[in-house]
Amino acid sequence: MSLTVRDSALDAFTRSYSARPEVLGLAPGRVELLGNHTDYNGGLVMAAAIDRFTAVAGRMTDKREANSFTADLDQRDAFPLTDIPRGEAGSWVRYVRGVAWAMQERFGLMDSGFDLAMAGDVPIGAGLSSSASVQSAVALFLLKSGVFGPSAPSDLDDAARMDLAHVLRRSENEFVGVGSGLLDQFSVLFGKEDHALVLDCRSLAYERVPMGDPAPAIVVCDSRTSRRLADGKYNERRAECERVVAYFQALHPNREITQLRDLTHDDLTEEWPRLDPVGRLRARHVLTENDRVSHGAQALKGGDLAAFGRLMTLSHASSRDDFQNSSRELDFLIEVAQAAPGFLGGKLSGAGWAGCTVNLVESDRASAFADFVKGGYAKLSGQEPIIHICHAAVGADAERLTADDAEEHGS
Ligand code: GLA
Repeated sequence: MSLTVRDSALDAFTRSYSARPEVLGLAPGRVELLGNHTDYNGGLVMAAAIDRFTAVAGRMTDKREANSFTADLDQRDAFPLTDIPRGEAGSWVRYVRGVAWAMQERFGLMDSGFDLAMAGDVPIGAGLSSSASVQSAVALFLLKSGVFGPSAPSDLDDAARMDLAHVLRRSENEFVGVGSGLLDQFSVLFGKEDHALVLDCRSLAYERVPMGDPAPAIVVCDSRTSRRLADGKYNERRAECERVVAYFQALHPNREITQLRDLTHDDLTEEWPRLDPVGRLRARHVLTENDRVSHGAQALKGGDLAAFGRLMTLSHASSRDDFQNSSRELDFLIEVAQAAPGFLGGKLSGAGWAGCTVNLVESDRASAFADFVKGGYAKLSGQEPIIHICHAAVGADAERLTADDAEEHGS
């Protein structure tokens, strides 16, 4: 657990409400290890929660409104619990309000209002799912604080976590307005120390797979280029995938085809000359990514980290060439990483186009790897990347605070 982030949230709460927080929610960020843009195509993904966190300190109140404060941006928000206005597109405000909206859709109206303050060290806009981390930390705080009364669980088993992942995805799709898949919320909620997560986005079967002992470091290299997920390209790719599905639906009206997951490599090969030249590349990426996830899970189970790493690097090439969601900077980062000490494999993480790469690195060579990539990338691109040496971490959780916890923070 990140002590600094936890402390910052507790401090921020006492400063902004002059009162004691009662509950603390904590949620990690995540990296995508394999399976890029497969989730909304009904495919397979592999991810890990990482040891960078969002902490939410808060309490129930007897008002019919919610107050929130973010220490990192020093901004406040207040909103009513019914007919919640969306707030500004792309802002943290919309994420917090969206959680309140979607959870009330699922669990009924809250019995009371709440005050919360949050702080975090998940880099924002870098492809590490700071948004799902915020969502989950807020959600876990709300469940633990009891604002829904007996209609919602306060401790979460895996079934309740999966249910919550869907609720939070709905919030992102319908309230925030980003058509993302289940990957982010799932990873943030299901993380386990030194384990990778495999998810079949169609059947929702999942597994936590040990990454080895010692587990490799997950080194995130931030290209310092940032973009907003809601700004169009993501939804454009989704639409391109859907058009390929529509083509095959028209071609095979008697076959059950609803997502790219329902197509085979043979389908693509047979129709290749007639398929839209952009759509067929997108589809090839998604189908080969699904294969890479299956093979990657087997490699990890067999303790073959080198094979797993190679699949990650192949995934990056497929994103770059077929899905075309890489960038000059992300390609540079992978190129440099391939020559760095301890490198096992690397790829872009998350939506793409900007942000971070994720690299699997032998644990005792992570610092040397970081130094090498810093120097190499600076030479190529003119600026140093920001490097985070991370490890696979535990998923989101919440705790009731004791008087001591709160007192240490000056109330
Ligand atoms: C973003 C989305 C995820 C997933 C990835 C790409 O992170 O939020 O749902 O689609 O992009 O794999």
